[in-house]
Amino acid sequence: MSQSSHYSAASLNHAYAAPEIVHQRQRTIDNLGLSAEQKVLDIGCGTGFLTFEIANKVGTNGLVCAIDKEADMILATKERCNALQQVEATEGDVTALKFADSIFDAATCTQVLLYVEKINQAIAEMVRVVKPGGTIAILETDWRTTVMQSSFPDITDSIYQAWDNTVSSPNLPVKLNKLLTDAGLVDIYVEAIPLVNTEFDPGNFSVSSLNWLSANAYKQGAITKKESALWREDLENLGHSGAYFFCVNRFLFIAKKPQ
Ligand SMILES: C[S@@+](CC[C@H](N)C(=O)[O-])C[C@H]1O[C@@H](n2cnc3c(N)ncnc32)[C@H](O)[C@@H]1O
Repeated sequence: MSQSSHYSAASLNHAYAAPEIVHQRQRTIDNLGLSAEQKVLDIGCGTGFLTFEIANKVGTNGLVCAIDKEADMILATKERCNALQQVEATEGDVTALKFADSIFDAATCTQVLLYVEKINQAIAEMVRVVKPGGTIAILETDWRTTVMQSSFPDITDSIYQAWDNTVSSPNLPVKLNKLLTDAGLVDIYVEAIPLVNTEFDPGNFSVSSLNWLSANAYKQGAITKKESALWREDLENLGHSGAYFFCVNRFLFIAKKPQ
């Protein structure tokens, strides 16, 4: 189990196979505009979903370096990308990248920076390793944009408050434009990617994430086991009656290192 990320490689594999996250990756790939033979760094690769997509874009004459601070994530990435010779996956930390200056055409960092305390240092490291004219893609969630149906809004609030208290930057998107500008990046493009579910389906993104958000709140002592069970049962019942609704916004930032 990953200590920093509050979930295992297996649960990430499950949650990030959801169609909404497949769509999110497609938007990321489309906006990166990659071409064959490019060199890309995928930071905080998790179980390697995005690494795999990037590898297919750059082809066998390209290179994808995938790094993650957790060994189990690197193992999962190696398994997923087993047949792709252009992928090199190693343990590493975004705040101290073990790569030379200006060697990558692009760097991606999706759903990682919320866990990182030294955000400025992480962004500076990304800027350092990307070539002049290269691209940086960062994707983050603003959990305050969640709209969801629940018969127990107070429990929902406690669960979200516990999440705010758990990670370093739970609501990073509102700060990213300035952070990227201050780091010297230009041509910043921002796209909102809403994740919407109207069914209580264990295979969709919201059910997976609400499960780990409530487990986190219980672990933090913000809700009791009984409240957690009541809240979950209510969501399931809302699903049965056709009243389930969940939406949260993710934001994709694409920025360029000046020539
Ligand atoms: C939510 S997952 C996202 C995985 C992947 N980027 C994706 O979008 O599918 C976050 C990942 O960031 C990694 N991570 C957290 N802090 C990190 C750091 N300081 N340096 C590198 N990876 C980190 C975690 O281990 C985890 O695998």
